[in-house]
Amino acid sequence: MCGIVGYIGRRDATGVLIQGLKRLEYRGYDSFGLATVGSAIEVYKKVGRISDGEAGATGLAGYAGIGHTRWATHGEPNDINAHPHTDCTGRIALVHNGVIENYSELKRQLEGRGHVFRSETDTEVIAHLIEEQYDGDLLAAVSAILPRLEGSYAVLVIAADTQKIVAARNASPLVLGVGDAEVFAASDMTPLLEYTERVVYLEDGDVADITPDRYTIYYDGREVERPIELISWCVEDTRKGGFAHYMLKEIFEQPQSFYETIRAGIDDHVRQMVMEADEITLVACGTSYHTALVFKYLAEPLCNLPIRVEMGSEFKYFTPPLHGLVIAVSQSGETADTIAALKMAKARNCPTLAITNVQGSTVTRIADETLLMRAGPEIGVAATKSYTAQLAALMQIVNARCDDAFDDVLSHAHLAISEVLIREIREAVALCAKAEHVFFVGRGPFYPVSMEGALKMKEISYVHAEGYAAGELKHGPFALLTPETPVVAICTPGPTYSVMASNIKEMKARRAPVIALGVDGDKELAEIVDIFIPIPNTHLLVQILTISVTLQLLAYHTACALQRDVDKPRNLAKSVTVE
Ligand code: F6R
Repeated sequence: MCGIVGYIGRRDATGVLIQGLKRLEYRGYDSFGLATVGSAIEVYKKVGRISDGEAGATGLAGYAGIGHTRWATHGEPNDINAHPHTDCTGRIALVHNGVIENYSELKRQLEGRGHVFRSETDTEVIAHLIEEQYDGDLLAAVSAILPRLEGSYAVLVIAADTQKIVAARNASPLVLGVGDAEVFAASDMTPLLEYTERVVYLEDGDVADITPDRYTIYYDGREVERPIELISWCVEDTRKGGFAHYMLKEIFEQPQSFYETIRAGIDDHVRQMVMEADEITLVACGTSYHTALVFKYLAEPLCNLPIRVEMGSEFKYFTPPLHGLVIAVSQSGETADTIAALKMAKARNCPTLAITNVQGSTVTRIADETLLMRAGPEIGVAATKSYTAQLAALMQIVNARCDDAFDDVLSHAHLAISEVLIREIREAVALCAKAEHVFFVGRGPFYPVSMEGALKMKEISYVHAEGYAAGELKHGPFALLTPETPVVAICTPGPTYSVMASNIKEMKARRAPVIALGVDGDKELAEIVDIFIPIPNTHLLVQILTISVTLQLLAYHTACALQRDVDKPRNLAKSVTVE
C-alpha cells in the first residue's frame, strides 16, 4: 500500500527520499514520486519501479522534501495520478496515504469555485483545499481544512518559500524520526533505521509542524507532547544478507524469530487478561487469520474455552454478539480491516489485546494490551516468519491459560524448524511448477495449515491453489482432480491419520498425483503417494511448524522455477491500509 516519506535537515533531501522510498518498496507500489522545496516546488513522478540511479535522474535539489510510493485506489497507475499532488498555483505539494471518502463532493465544490484538477485521485482535493486557505502560514492552512476530510489520511505537505513540512494523521500510520538538526517522517520506521533510533508515533488527530531543529505537535489546536521511543530494529535487519530474496532470508530466520518471541514471554497484564477471559475472539486477515485458526484448533480443547476466529473484513458488517477477550492478530499492525474490527470490540467494551510484529503500530495504540512478536522487519510481501512468530506468541497464551501445556515443546521447536529448512523438495517443486491447479488438504489444525500453504503458493507463484479440509474434497472438488492436478496432503500420526490415508487413496483412485507430508520413517504412507516429504516425528505443534515452513519453501521454489517476482508479487501490498 502507499508509503510516504519526508525529510528536512542538512542532507540532500532527494537522496534521503529515494532511499526512504526504496525501503518502503516492500509495502507494494505501482508508481512513485517526490517533491522538494526551495523558492519553488519541484516535482518528479513516474509510473513503475524506482531504479538504482533514480536520485540523480530526478534533477531535484534541496534540503526538504516529501516522497510517495503509490498503490492505485482512485485512478489507474500513471505519471499524473502518482503523488505528490499540487494545487492550481503549483505552490503547494503533498503526499497522502489513505482514502478521502468524501472526495467526490469536495471535488465538485472545488471545481465549482474554479479549481482545475489534473489527476483522478481522491488526494488532489486536499491540495486545492489548502490552496484556498494558504496565506503564508502552512500549519494554519492545513489545520483549517482537515475537519472537512472524511476517511483516512497520513499527509505530508510542503509549500514554496516555506522551509517546513506539515504532517497530519488520521487512521493511517505516520512516524517521525528525530535526528540531530534533522527530522524524518514516514509511514513506518524502515526508512528511518539508517539515520536515527529515536521515533515519535503520531496519534490520530495530530498535526505536526516540522522544521530541521524542531517539531511541534498539535491536537485539537493545542500543543501536545508525544513520547520519544527507541526503535528495537536495526538497518541490517532490512538487508538481504546474501540471500536471493527477502522471502528466503525470512524463511531461514524462523528458528531465531520463533525462539526470540518465546524468550520475550508475556507480561503480567497480558497474562491476567488471558486468565480472566471466559471466551476469546480473534480477528485477523490473510495469513494472520490462518494462524488464528491454528490457535483455535490447538487451544480450544486444551483450555476448555470457547474460541472464535473472525475475518477482519467480514466482522465490521456481520458482527456477532461479542463478549470476552478480543485479540487482533496482525503482523503489520496496520491492516485496515483488522483495525476496524478491533475498534468495534473496543466500542463494545471488550478487553482487547494486539498481537503484532511492529512496535508503535496502530493496533498497539488501540488495544488495551500488546503482545509483541520478535520477528524483526518482514520485507517480503508474503508473510513467513511472522506466521511462525504469531504461533509462538499465541502458544504462550495457551501456556498462560493451561498450566504451561506447551512449555517443553516451545523451548526446542526452533531446532526442528532448522532441520526442515534443508529438506529435499525438488521433485515436489517440479510437479507444482508445471501444474495449473494445486490442492492442499489436511484435517484438524492441518486444515488452516493447508489454507496457508495454498495462499503462499498462489500469491507468489500465481499457480492456482486451494486449501481444503480433506474430508470436504469429495463434496465437490473431486470433480477437478485429474492427473495434472497435484494434491499436497498432510498426513501425520494421530486421530486423523487413517481417515487421511483413506482420503489419499481416493485421490489416487482419481489419478491425481499426491505429494504427502508425513513423519520421518512412515514407509506405508510413502508407498501409496507419488512424492513423500518427511518431517520430524515430534509433538503436534512442532509438526504444524515444520510442515508450514516446508510449504513456504515449496511455494518459494515453485515461484522461483516460474521466474516470479517473489518478494513483490503482482497486485499485492504488504500492508493493506484500505478496507
Ligand atoms: C500473505 C500475507 C497477507 C497478510 C494479510 C494481513 O502472505 O502476507 O495475507 O497476512 O494482509 O496482514 P497483517 O498480518 O499485517 O494484518
